[in-house]
Amino acid sequence: MTTAGAGAPGAASDDARPGSGPSRRSLLRLGAAAAGGAAAALAGRGAWDAAAAAPAPAPVAADAAGRVTVPFRGARQAGVATPQPAFVALVALDLVAGADRDAVTRLMRIWTDDVERLMAGRPGLADTEPELAQVPAALTVTVAWGPGVFTAAGIEDRRPSWLAPLPAFAVDRLEDRWCGGDLLLQVCADDQVTVAHAVRVLTKEARTFAGVRWVQRGFRNSPGTVAPGTTARNLMGQVDGTRNVDPDVEPHLVWQVDDAGPWVRDGSSVVVRRIAMDLDTWDELDRVGRENAVGRRLADGAPLTGAHEHDEPDLDARDALGFTVISDAAHIRRARTDDPTHRFLRRGYSYDDTPAAGALSDSGLLFVAFQADPVAQLVPVQERLAEADLMNLWTTPVGSAVFAVLPGAREGEVLGQALLV
Ligand code: HEM
Repeated sequence: MTTAGAGAPGAASDDARPGSGPSRRSLLRLGAAAAGGAAAALAGRGAWDAAAAAPAPAPVAADAAGRVTVPFRGARQAGVATPQPAFVALVALDLVAGADRDAVTRLMRIWTDDVERLMAGRPGLADTEPELAQVPAALTVTVAWGPGVFTAAGIEDRRPSWLAPLPAFAVDRLEDRWCGGDLLLQVCADDQVTVAHAVRVLTKEARTFAGVRWVQRGFRNSPGTVAPGTTARNLMGQVDGTRNVDPDVEPHLVWQVDDAGPWVRDGSSVVVRRIAMDLDTWDELDRVGRENAVGRRLADGAPLTGAHEHDEPDLDARDALGFTVISDAAHIRRARTDDPTHRFLRRGYSYDDTPAAGALSDSGLLFVAFQADPVAQLVPVQERLAEADLMNLWTTPVGSAVFAVLPGAREGEVLGQALLV
């Protein structure tokens, strides 16, 4: 990550300024109009007029955390192996009826351009609130495709074999409103305003081609509130994220690292599971019960057989009565197998939404996992957890979706380009 002068004079995009970028904007708008018809073109025109009329954004006195930028260009997309910012919006979209390869190509062109701008702290091409782009706050936007894109673009032969809904698990209580999608935008930043603005720009620019299917917003501790390197806690109070894959050490677990696999080199896959927590019944459990459910202590995340968070759990250790110290159904025992390939990068967020009438809360975990192949790596683990895991008493998967993460766009490239030509 680098810090850029997002708040410095001249950091804002020239293209958002009156008279400086209409020809590029018009080109994109014309493309959108051709694909989407008159109504969408009018909507786009409105945005263009607003952007053209907007004054140059005044520099903001951004603080250091607000000026952090993550590079967009590269072999791999940001938002997977890059540090995890505090806030996320996961946005699934569905292509409009009749969208074809041309529509997908145009959409990727628009998103590539806008994502590059926004991640650099510059307004999107037709940004109607250009001032909001001046605080990139480590913004990353990761673009992924669901199965529908491959069908619409007529490139089924390039669809990775694993790109399909996960098999049904006994614990699932899935609701349609949190499942599936043709496209995914994972928008992360250390500032919620930045996330909201990026989502607005990217969904607005996409509307001729795709409409929003669902949005899931999540959070972790805000920057500066806990010491750097502290493992996050989820809303059950557990230290969550201790034992995870390091993509720099084991890149093959996260990325397609060669040309031989089912997906393209430097691509990945993302599984998004919305897992509701029943915090009311969790409240009824004492501390010992809570620690047994996971197999780790609440105070510091250390395994029940160890003294420090990163101590290796001793799964064979027994207490004076001969019982295993870490329960046979403890989450950490069930979440691992003897196969070292049954591992993936967990990059989840908490959610805390409006409760249903009469309920106290609607909270849970946006379980987000990146891996080269979800069927080979994640499904065996999820099967074990569905079979037995004390945590199942308080957690319920209510949403599930799988997407293929595109490789990155190198200089001059458009996201997904190699797949669409
Ligand atoms: C609301 C649901 C869940 C909660 C609250 C939860 C919480 C936790 C906690 C507290 C830990 C121990 C600390 C750590 O190593 O990170 C952990 C570990 C782990 N969890 Fe979960 N988890 C949930 C769902 C899942 C799901 C759905 C999967 C996989 C499909 C999963 C896979 C793992 C793995 C692989 C580990 C590391 C196990 C190890 O090697 O020690 N978890 N989880």
